[in-house]
Amino acid sequence: MVNIMPGDHVTDCHVLVIGSGGAGCRAALEASRYGETVLLSRTLTGKGGCTIMAEGGYNAVLNEEDSTTLHFEDTMRGGGYLNDPALAKVLVTESPDRFRDLTAWGSVFDVEHDCVPAQRPFGGQRFCRTCYAGDRSGHEMIQTLTEQIRNTDIRQVQETSAIDFLMDGKRVAGAITLDRDGHLGAITADATVVATGGATRCYDISTNCAAGTGDGFALGYRAGATLIDMEMVQFHPTGAVYPPDSRGRLITEAVRGEGGVLKNSLGERFMERYDPERMELSTRDVVARSIATEILEGRGTEHGGVYLDVTHLSAEEIERRLPIMLDQFLHFGVDIRIQPMEVAPTAHHLMGGLKITPDTATTLPGLFACGEVTGGVHGANRLGGNALADTQVFGKRAGEAAGKSPKISLSVDVDAVLAIEAARCDAYCNGTTPPHEILRDLTRVMWDHAGIFRTKTGLQEAEATVSRLQMLIPKAANRRMLNECCTVTNMLTVARLIIQGALLREESRGAHVRTDITQSWTAENSPFGHTVQSLFGTTIEDRRRDA
Ligand code: FUM
Repeated sequence: MVNIMPGDHVTDCHVLVIGSGGAGCRAALEASRYGETVLLSRTLTGKGGCTIMAEGGYNAVLNEEDSTTLHFEDTMRGGGYLNDPALAKVLVTESPDRFRDLTAWGSVFDVEHDCVPAQRPFGGQRFCRTCYAGDRSGHEMIQTLTEQIRNTDIRQVQETSAIDFLMDGKRVAGAITLDRDGHLGAITADATVVATGGATRCYDISTNCAAGTGDGFALGYRAGATLIDMEMVQFHPTGAVYPPDSRGRLITEAVRGEGGVLKNSLGERFMERYDPERMELSTRDVVARSIATEILEGRGTEHGGVYLDVTHLSAEEIERRLPIMLDQFLHFGVDIRIQPMEVAPTAHHLMGGLKITPDTATTLPGLFACGEVTGGVHGANRLGGNALADTQVFGKRAGEAAGKSPKISLSVDVDAVLAIEAARCDAYCNGTTPPHEILRDLTRVMWDHAGIFRTKTGLQEAEATVSRLQMLIPKAANRRMLNECCTVTNMLTVARLIIQGALLREESRGAHVRTDITQSWTAENSPFGHTVQSLFGTTIEDRRRDA
């Protein structure tokens, strides 16, 4: 029996920010200028999100030969023209100033001899606009943001998850929380920002950290929010394949940015076949599909990957520009100064998510969203380097919009809501199936049938598996496992949204490929717009039907 004490564990604040990756930290910093702010993290502040693991860089127009128009066009083209143009415009316009915020706060990014920020080429971009701190750019950003947070009176609630939004009628008024020991609580707020990041842990092979379980998408969906383009899952072309326990780990695009070449087991530089103009610096959707095709057609390595080779670079260049890659592979017994790496695609990023306005308002009053949990900024495929920029641009906007929200007086009975959540936890204590068993079947079927290449029958098989798994009740053997039960429930919700979106989208576009469909249009003149899903229905915008 999960006990709660009426009135106990209820905290009030002006702004609640859920998630402490790059977007959440930036949102909290901004919100704290307007009133009492709570920053809620599943892990220790800054440690759990994907930002801290981000390697390659941050896109910003900093050179006068570059322009935000070029950056916008690259972002839209790379995104298969499914991006919300207003969101993409905000991203490219504000990213340089948000980069300057970071450096003013002390972030040490690499510079050229004359102290201007160094920028490297990244895929799908016509200018070198990716700023970097070696190959640990996200780490540098999180260090800076958490240091700034320590200088404020932001209240950090750590190792505690949001398991549902606290609803006051149709308005989000905070969250129900569960700490790592399985104690329930509530945080009431005038405005709530969700910045919980991505969800690719629902795939067998993923770059995401343990927190990439999609809680924000699921909480939003359960509360009635609208989500768009959930089928758009980015597979990063280059994840580690060997040794087995490193499978899926990110091998940064910076390796290709610095001149790394891809070769199959026949020694062919195969990108010549798929994108002879951009080669290894084609967009991620194209490179991932090309690698997957080489492997499927039998030209892969013995460990099921392809080679990524930087041995033509000098040892000094590799040591200076790719120190983490060098270290990581040395640890695996491979010296990338003289040996090629082996890589294969790995689930990396969700382009879809909560529908937002440029001011980060979701479709639910009182709820703002920023970072990977949102949809629309990146369309059908995200450019490398645009995610770190997204966290800062929309993080600041979300914190400001939430901070400016009016004070509300609550009419919800928080104790009654906590009692309902306690009953849910009790059900988990009496559950049927260990969460890891549910997860094993889920991640396998998602990888097999909702991965890089998709078909209607495969997706229907995945949907049937998810339906079966949703009938099971995850079992918490002790209170500490309650979090895992909540998480696996959320992952099943996200998986269903991905599959439903993929079934609705009867075309190939960006990261979403339906091999069972032939089409007469390109991404640019596709008749389809967003897939739109909520508790109240699912649809795809169809310009032919909607005209
Ligand atoms: O390849 C990378 O370093 C990842 C960058 C990104 O996802 O933006």
